[in-house]
Amino acid sequence: MTPSPARYSRPAKIFHWLTVFFVFAAWGLGLVGEDLPRGSIRHLGEFIHILLGETVVLLLLLRLVWRFITPPPPLEPTELGLAGALATRAVHLALYGLLLAVPVVGVVTLFNGGEALSIYGLYDIPSPWPKNRELKHNSKEIHELLAHILVVLALLHAAAALVHHYVFKDRVLKRMLPRLLVGE
Ligand code: HEM
Ligand code: HEM
Repeated sequence: MTPSPARYSRPAKIFHWLTVFFVFAAWGLGLVGEDLPRGSIRHLGEFIHILLGETVVLLLLLRLVWRFITPPPPLEPTELGLAGALATRAVHLALYGLLLAVPVVGVVTLFNGGEALSIYGLYDIPSPWPKNRELKHNSKEIHELLAHILVVLALLHAAAALVHHYVFKDRVLKRMLPRLLVGE
């Protein structure tokens, strides 16, 4: 009997694709947020932006716990050899780091503006330090820059997965897709 090919577990795939959705939704809403009319609509936009961002963190934590319990399959041997494997590891590590850093700097931005962090609208964590306009401006710029770096890196990572699939015709992308789609 041939062994079944290595692939990510179902929960790992679910965490991955939900993260993709929430990152792009938070990024999109972050970008249009400033153009929303001032007042209740902009407040609602910011509230939803923060809910999406909190969900990115929640998924990251669940995903890392799951990764610890059920380690991912070994890297797929590809035409790119050791250099490719090292680049993959470095990009994954950077993506994990940014999935944490972007929300953390987002929370710091809220606190610099003197606002409380609402945890899913259920519980408020008040700002631990006084409001400071200049710091808020700076941390917002850093939050935005890191969010853009996350999105650009994720797009390069997605492009690499597509090159593996369509050019090298290996299993890298298939390992992360739902089995129904891959049909194996
Ligand atoms: C708990 C998580 C997060 C919190 C608390 C948070 C908080 C904030 C705050 C306070 C702002 C500034 C809103 C304003 O004053 O106009 C902002 C803007 C923004 N956020 Fe987040 N955010 C979080 C997660 C994310 C994530 C995951 C992304 C995308 C990957 C993201 C992308 C952006 C972008 C692109 C902006 C626009 C920045 C600008 O216009 O200067 N945020 N966020
Ligand atoms: C916000 C967007 C994204 C983020 C944050 C992200 C993050 C990650 C991370 C952290 C891993 C490593 C999983 C592990 O082994 O622990 C991973 C794996 C993977 N991702 Fe993404 N990803 C994103 C979007 C995409 C997209 C759009 C695609 C496909 C077009 C994709 C395809 C893959 C594949 C195929 C793997 C497995 C790579 C391998 O087996 O070596 N990702 N992703």
